Amino acid sequence: MLNNSTLKFALLATLLTGMISTLARADDDEHRPVAKNKVWQTECGACHVAYPPGMLPAESWRAVMSGLDKHFGSDASMDKASAREIGDFLEKNAGRSRRESSEKPLLRITETRWFKHEHDEVSDRTWKNPKVGSRANCTACHQGAENGNFSEHNIRIPK
Ligand code: HEC
Ligand code: HEC
Repeated sequence: MLNNSTLKFALLATLLTGMISTLARADDDEHRPVAKNKVWQTECGACHVAYPPGMLPAESWRAVMSGLDKHFGSDASMDKASAREIGDFLEKNAGRSRRESSEKPLLRITETRWFKHEHDEVSDRTWKNPKVGSRANCTACHQGAENGNFSEHNIRIPK
């Protein structure tokens, strides 16, 4: 027969198992495999880190992909087949839109509300550091950026 302390132990064990699996899930989420595509990695990682698809909504990627010949002051155009494959990959793995329908899609991650919010504690002095150069230079601070890891545990601010 179950006595009181066996029952308490069973309850505690259930509770702990639940907590541990919740923690494991949260951890999984952070280390969830990032979407990858070879053509994207090569073409869009040639001049800067290949920015993860989830960081902009689909309509932004569509706008970026339709203006590659005039891409932030440089020419990033490529053959049609590659552009189509990359466009599909980006849109399929895009983030959710947070814009009002009347607004034009943003072309820059660094202009999104979430980016500004996540970086509101970075000082002006840091942004002006020549080792950073540009907000778009994620790899200056995010050491795992090349692997799609932007975790707060993997940041080193250049001095
Ligand atoms: C020929 C070089 C080149 C290639 C290739 C290239 N880019 Fe860029 N990209 C740039 C430059 C230059 C900037 C501006 C960087 C800055 O402001 O510091 C930029 C900026 C961006 C930004 C905005 C970054 C921000 O948030 O401020 C996005 C998004 C972007 N590129 C996406 C892409 C995608 C997608 C591809 C592949 C289809 C690609 N780029 C290929 C040169 C390139
Ligand atoms: C000057 C250094 C610097 C640059 C450049 C930079 N970041 Fe960050 N990033 C930070 C800091 C600092 C945080 C805040 C970490 C924290 O919450 O403790 C952060 C937070 C983030 C977070 C949230 C991480 C988390 O675990 O909460 C994401 C996502 C991110 N950055 C993406 C980017 C992307 C994408 C770029 C390039 C387009 C970029 N960052 C450029 C310093 C930088």
